[in-house]
Amino acid sequence: MNPLLSAEEVSVRYGSLTALAGVDLSIHEGQRHALIGPNGAGKTTLLDVIGGATKPQRGTVRFAGRDISRLGPAARARRGINRIHQRPAVFPTLTATENVVVAALPRVVPRRRWWSGGRRRTAQHRAGPLLERMGLADVAAVPAGHLAHGQRRQLEIAMALAGSPRLLLLDEPAAGLSANEVGRLVDLLRALPRAIAVLLVEHRLDLVYALSDTVTVLRDGQTLAAGTPDEIRTSPLVRQAYADGVA
Ligand SMILES: Nc1ncnc2c1ncn2[C@@H]1O[C@H](COP(=O)(O)OP(=O)(O)O)[C@@H](O)[C@H]1O
Ligand SMILES: [Mg+2]
Repeated sequence: MNPLLSAEEVSVRYGSLTALAGVDLSIHEGQRHALIGPNGAGKTTLLDVIGGATKPQRGTVRFAGRDISRLGPAARARRGINRIHQRPAVFPTLTATENVVVAALPRVVPRRRWWSGGRRRTAQHRAGPLLERMGLADVAAVPAGHLAHGQRRQLEIAMALAGSPRLLLLDEPAAGLSANEVGRLVDLLRALPRAIAVLLVEHRLDLVYALSDTVTVLRDGQTLAAGTPDEIRTSPLVRQAYADGVA
């Protein structure tokens, strides 16, 4: 079976700094794949390349059988690639529901069509179940700026789900959360529909093992290792990279 996503020979340079040097990554429909590695390894850059925010100097990104290398983030989102960022990005003065409605707009308002009351209602109908799925039904009417950090994370994921993703890109979703919030987030992520593929950037190996079936380890913009969580756990190369104190 062809992968849902394949990034092939991706290279990104920032001036003289090489952020990614010929990285390959593929993800199948419904697969849960973790991307780990030390700070500066190129994990966020690879998500940017897959999401369309960064154009690589070399390499190709294919999604659902098509070359999407030239498409921007909005066009990729319409095709089913949605992401959350390393820092939560919500509209603080809008309620949780309104945030999800805004995120759902590109799906319910076709390109170059007018926004209408009917489409607004469609978006609102989508928001309720998504907030419930992300454990936010009780705070649907609360402005996002008043939510706890963990709830803002949950909201951002509900917003990403509003795009009906086939591939969800999560950049360090547990960063800055309390132990309780992390436990809750893991439960919510494990309960996502299996049809959605997830590419998860995460530092904490316990979360990687709880949430993913395959793992790629990046270091210095290159793939150091790839395999199942068990293979990665026991890989001498990975142990060495983590033992170097760089992770
Ligand atoms: N916009 C940018 N301009 C210049 N250098 C960047 C930029 N984004 C990332 N880098 C550099 O590219 C490398 C990879 O960064 P990043 O992908 O953010 O790593 P990670 O997410 O694995 O910590 C780092 O050395 C970082 O400093
Ligand atoms: Mg990063």
